[in-house]
Amino acid sequence: MGVIQRLPDDLANQIAAGEVVERPASVAKELVENALDAGATRVRIDVEGGGVGLVRVSDDGSGMSEEDAALAVERHATSKIAKLSDLACIASYGFRGEALPSIASVSRFTLRTRRRADEAGVEVEAGVEVTILGGGPPRMAPCGVAAGTTIEVKDLFFNVPARRKFLRSLATESAHLTEVAEAAALSSAELTVVLSREGRVVREWLRAKDREERVRSSFGDEALSRCVGERGPLRVEAFLSRPERARAAASALTLFVNGRPVRDRALARAVAQAYGSVLEAGRYPLGVVYLDIDPALVDVNVHPQKAEVRFADGRAVGEALFRVLADELARAFGMPVATRSWNRPPAKPVGASEFPPVHFGAVAEPVAASGLPWSFSTGEAGKEEPETAAAPPRLLVDARPEERPAFSRLAFIAQLRQTFLLCEGQDGVYVLDQHAAAERVTFHRLRTAYEKRGIATQALLFPVSVEVTAQDAAFVEEEQRALSELGLDVRAIGPTTVAVHAMPRLLSRAKPENVVRDLIAEVTRSGGRAFSNAVDLVLATMACHGSVRAGDRLSAEEAGALLVALDQVDFAGHCPHGRPIVTRIGWDELERKVGRR
Ligand SMILES: Nc1ncnc2c1ncn2[C@@H]1O[C@H](COP(=O)(O)OP(=O)(O)O)[C@@H](O)[C@H]1O
Ligand SMILES: [Mg+2]
Repeated sequence: MGVIQRLPDDLANQIAAGEVVERPASVAKELVENALDAGATRVRIDVEGGGVGLVRVSDDGSGMSEEDAALAVERHATSKIAKLSDLACIASYGFRGEALPSIASVSRFTLRTRRRADEAGVEVEAGVEVTILGGGPPRMAPCGVAAGTTIEVKDLFFNVPARRKFLRSLATESAHLTEVAEAAALSSAELTVVLSREGRVVREWLRAKDREERVRSSFGDEALSRCVGERGPLRVEAFLSRPERARAAASALTLFVNGRPVRDRALARAVAQAYGSVLEAGRYPLGVVYLDIDPALVDVNVHPQKAEVRFADGRAVGEALFRVLADELARAFGMPVATRSWNRPPAKPVGASEFPPVHFGAVAEPVAASGLPWSFSTGEAGKEEPETAAAPPRLLVDARPEERPAFSRLAFIAQLRQTFLLCEGQDGVYVLDQHAAAERVTFHRLRTAYEKRGIATQALLFPVSVEVTAQDAAFVEEEQRALSELGLDVRAIGPTTVAVHAMPRLLSRAKPENVVRDLIAEVTRSGGRAFSNAVDLVLATMACHGSVRAGDRLSAEEAGALLVALDQVDFAGHCPHGRPIVTRIGWDELERKVGRR
């Protein structure tokens, strides 16, 4: 007898589930995508017990006939693609036909569905219910249900305890579920999305008229700039934060490719680099970027959870994104245009050409020589600013102490663009980034005070109440001691409301609600809500809020005080948001540049 056997279906489904269903949020993601594919205008997500107890997604989409409902839970059954060539231009979210059987193989699964009334308004048929217990045989029964589909997934991984162990805390799983709801809402403005936790609605996105309205409602009072542009076959619409709001991770930057939320390091980097020198490498702005491109130029079938895509020419997409955003951001925030060109991944395919700027309205003509499936029209080839071989300006933030200038001995000359401080030193010209410098000073002061358990606080005249999620309110209640050591008197005053009563005196410029929101986000994102690991991050967030920003006018006295304060800063004490604060051009270099030597 041979040793090879065919896997039974339920085992095959469980194996597939290993790739598709990582955690409760992946269940929600698949179900929401199905609802969108079914033309839903409303999607409701109900979650209990961090999604492990229950994830229920209800939609008002097309619904399914009894026959289709039975097929839907079978492996490799999909209504979305029929032949191999369809795979080249997928416009739907789903296409793999494995989500429902995979989910049903690792949970207690119930699907209830009824087709929408037909055109004439005649009810077509009764509803049907399909139940599956841990991948067992489906049981079908008639049921009364509104038009559309409701899928209930209970006790996720009840029959695969090993997988269950990999789940993180309830708060972490909840946070991932919220991200799924938010991504669905951001991906399509007209969709109404409701998220409820333990029977209570915690987030709600009502139908919006366009992406801008949707993004603004989702991001609350975060000031985001709208940047739009087109290059070749790529259309970009982005809503991005000011550089000072940047984070050390790209997690607050959401990217959509043809409406599909994707994780893509190269694209996130292109966005960050478009900010130019005001953003240090490794830091990312907050916001949302929508990329729209011919579906034939992007392969969405490269990741089991469809979280990654592959472009026919990823470098060109990155470059195009960078170019569109660099100009738009400079205009929006009054910053210098990013002069650095996009830092392409080093490996260059043989024969690949550079991609010069495309002029608006230019037709993307494939460049024969490039040998790439698509490319931008060659307008002024080679006219892009040359990448100078000159050494990049020296960034002194991490310089050894003896190399650091004595800031207080620099003579302040002028403020440039309300962003930089121009100073003269013995050995050359210094240009300081006023926000980065002020942030360093505030961070240093906060940290020193924190270590001595002595952050001075100031009571607010009127307590400020902030709406947060139930989880976050619980977090504030639990961590009140730790928060008060940070100089914050903040207390939960309702299931989803906290009140700020006092703030660190050093942060008199900051808005209490923003500090509290960011601080919670920072601690939650850094995982596990362990304050001890996150103190530096939290202090850096506070410092960022409490400091002079780009765009603030500084008097000569204020600039002078900042220079003096910088000399007190212990630059070795690492600041997680730290970025270069000063650059120097030596006299000899300057003389060389103007040809005196
Ligand atoms: N909410 C829904 N409304 C209508 N039809 C659905 C819904 N969810 C799933 N289906 C049907 O079930 C099929 C299988 O779903 P799924 O396993 O997620 O595979 P895929 O989405 O890749 O096609 C879908 O192709 C669709 O026809
Ligand atoms: Mg699907």
